[in-house]
Amino acid sequence: MKVSVDADRCRGHGACLGLCPEVFTLTDSGYAEAAAGAVPAHLEDAVADAVSACPESAIVIE
Ligand code: F3S
Repeated sequence: MKVSVDADRCRGHGACLGLCPEVFTLTDSGYAEAAAGAVPAHLEDAVADAVSACPESAIVIE
């Protein structure tokens, strides 16, 4: 699984950071970005939770 944040949709709500801080970080501009590369298997459920929790539907699983 790979994941990314659509910068055009993210509004900085931060739910993703709370659910999976190992993958999602906040940029200096206040929006989220996802770590590059494959999501470790043990974090896939947390990433899926973040996808569901984002109110802007900004997180995309590739
Ligand atoms: Fe942005 Fe959604 Fe996370 S709006 S900060 S990707 S919860």
